[in-house]
Amino acid sequence: MKIILNKNKLLKFIHNDRNLGFVPTMGAIHQGHISLIKKSISQCKKTIVSIFINKPQFNKIDDYNRYPRNLKKDIKILKMLKVDYLYLPTSNEIYPFGTNNKIKVNSFERKLCGKFRPGHFKSIADVVDRFLKIIKPNKVYFGKKDFQQLIIIKDFVMKNHPKIKVIGCKTIREKNGIAHSSRNLLLSTNEKKIAARVYKFLLNKKKLISRRIISSNFIKKKIYNLGVNKIDYIEILDINKILHPYKKKIEYKIFIAYYLGKTRLIDNF
Ligand code: PAJ
Repeated sequence: MKIILNKNKLLKFIHNDRNLGFVPTMGAIHQGHISLIKKSISQCKKTIVSIFINKPQFNKIDDYNRYPRNLKKDIKILKMLKVDYLYLPTSNEIYPFGTNNKIKVNSFERKLCGKFRPGHFKSIADVVDRFLKIIKPNKVYFGKKDFQQLIIIKDFVMKNHPKIKVIGCKTIREKNGIAHSSRNLLLSTNEKKIAARVYKFLLNKKKLISRRIISSNFIKKKIYNLGVNKIDYIEILDINKILHPYKKKIEYKIFIAYYLGKTRLIDNF
């Protein structure tokens, strides 16, 4: 695996690669990331992974400072997976003239997480746009764990990088049901147990929630009783009616964002 810190060096390595798969990450590599990487390796001739903790997409400096960093372990895992290139850019290289505040993304960015993290998805589109302009991959891989991110980036890439295909990959879960996430490293054993109970409860009640048989106040109360500190949102959406053209088939998904201590978790299922 070539570890590359510099854009010009990177371009020298990849300029001949025709069938290149790209997996952008913020590191603290876990099974979720690994499934994306394995998919890229299976579909593409060469695979490039980036680790870059993109400061502008964090709304709170404290969240950015607490974000898990584990580069040595990450490199070990990526080498074992036989990733071809690991790109570790500096902030200056990605943002030589600051961020782009003119970036346009679908209005779905204002729903769900966007209500609580204004500008979050524009910052993600900005950094993904910068990576795609440097790397020019054939395919780029995103997880359904961050479903809103996937939908918004898919729409953005279709409009701005029509030659690049966005591949959505299924959510990988721990044995207890919770989705793998770098932020899980910040949870205590007890907080993990609570997260598992939240997932189980919502999954069991999904049908009743989608038929509006139980109220959202009832659900929120139950979740607070499980030990959650704060709920940003719990919503159920027909995912076939998010972006035009709508599909006829109804497919409900529950979306949740909540806090255990200071740690914010999101999930959808
Ligand atoms: P990060 O949270 O590191 O996630 C990198 C990729 O892994 C994202 O596409 C995410 O959806 C996917 N992923 C995370 N957990 C997963 C799981 N349990 N199962 C399947 N896929 C999972 O998302 C980001 O970084 C950043 O916003 C980024 C796109 C890199 C831009 O900064």
